[in-house]
Amino acid sequence: MIAGIMKFIIETYGCQMNVADSELVSAILVDAGFEKTEYINNADIIIFNTCTVRQHAEDRVIGRITQEARRKKEKTDLLIGIIGCVSQRIGNRLVHQISALDFAVGTDQYLQLPDIIHKCYEQKVSISQLTVNHRENYENIYPLRKKGISAFISIMRGCNNFCSYCIVPYTRGRERSRRPKEIIKEIMRAGKDGYKDITLLGQNVNSYFADGVDFPELLYLVNNISEVSRIRFVTSHPKDLSDRLIEAMASLDKVCEHIHLPMQSGSNKILKLMNRGYTIEHYLGLIKNLRKAIPKVAITTDIMCGFPGETELNFYETYQAMQEIEFDYAFTFKYSPRQWTKAAEMNNQIPEQKRLERLQKLIKLQEQITLKKYQHYIGKRVEVLVEQISKRSDKQVSGRARDNKIVVITGDKNLIGKFIQAKITDATKWTLKGEALPYQ
Ligand code: SAH
Ligand code: SF4
Ligand code: F3S
Repeated sequence: MIAGIMKFIIETYGCQMNVADSELVSAILVDAGFEKTEYINNADIIIFNTCTVRQHAEDRVIGRITQEARRKKEKTDLLIGIIGCVSQRIGNRLVHQISALDFAVGTDQYLQLPDIIHKCYEQKVSISQLTVNHRENYENIYPLRKKGISAFISIMRGCNNFCSYCIVPYTRGRERSRRPKEIIKEIMRAGKDGYKDITLLGQNVNSYFADGVDFPELLYLVNNISEVSRIRFVTSHPKDLSDRLIEAMASLDKVCEHIHLPMQSGSNKILKLMNRGYTIEHYLGLIKNLRKAIPKVAITTDIMCGFPGETELNFYETYQAMQEIEFDYAFTFKYSPRQWTKAAEMNNQIPEQKRLERLQKLIKLQEQITLKKYQHYIGKRVEVLVEQISKRSDKQVSGRARDNKIVVITGDKNLIGKFIQAKITDATKWTLKGEALPYQ
């Protein structure tokens, strides 16, 4: 193996920011002369892009590293490394603890990866490079994406909110927004490369601000880009969701009728302990305003249960809020204590068994709501942008409606990239099924 043509594979865990970062890292490595592979058997370098938002996510990836370490018996010069949030958090410790781990690189140090890999390979040393750089924005790198119809465009990095349970501000550093000029340039290029449905990414996109442009203003600018057809964004924070943003969503034709707006809890006591910066009344007001301004809007959320101090009553407040709002979908989590965060130090930690019981109740409730919501679509017409051959059958394709729901329709690969009017014929708790309508 010659160092110049080493092949790498990246296995990605965690949120969309990590998916976007893997595309960024792929571009950095390919530019430096490495080759990307999708087959782990062919890889000379295995990179895990890791998530530490809950303990389970961290344990899983550490398990994967030890599993793949066995390959080193046969392929002695194989390199294994980690990047992302686990790496930023405890990478230094891990390279010492796990002998098979060759490098750990932090979220602001990806430009160093080619040099680090060469050094590990040539000098047979293990390296951790975790220096924080609150200004690193990775400008001028065009991410290497999988060919397709939808693309993530990261518009900012980091987070300043310090929700009391959350590790992200520690692993991603301070919030920084990319310049609008750079974002527009990247979206135009992505549009020319065939990506039609783009998602603007940040931990809190509502607080985007650069060169005098705030988030609603950025949406207006992106809406003018003729190369793209649909615009989405995640994640919005309820404390920063302005009327101007709702107005922009309502008036801009390419901005899709979907918002992901994490509620976390329905209890004001818990929201305060979480340092979320809003009350449940404020949250309910936002839902009302969104539904009034954008009648077809789909609203999805993140909900957490078992936060320290959460009583049965507090939990029930969350349950009730979910019943009242009827989210299209809710990602539900049981609280997981994270080292360094305020919540991990709080009294009244809830026993694991209780957290699990509460989580199961939330999952069950949301399944019923989602199914009911999805069944409302039966008989209705939606516009589907076809993205891929269905995973279940090659006579079916799947795509998304404007409100982000997955729709499966009969058809073949020629439909990929096309906008299809479909009539919904069936609904499960995850997907809609539809038939393409003839053009009129
Ligand atoms: N920036 C986004 C996403 C953060 S992580 C936001 O603010 O919404 C995604 C979700 O994971 C969070 O919304 C929260 O519900 C959940 N989460 C974060 N930390 C957690 C923890 N310590 N335990 C359990 N769930 C957590
Ligand atoms: Fe974490 Fe809160 Fe920042 Fe989201 S807004 S990343 S939950 S600290
Ligand atoms: Fe996980 Fe880091 Fe995203 S902790 S959720 S990968 S920002």
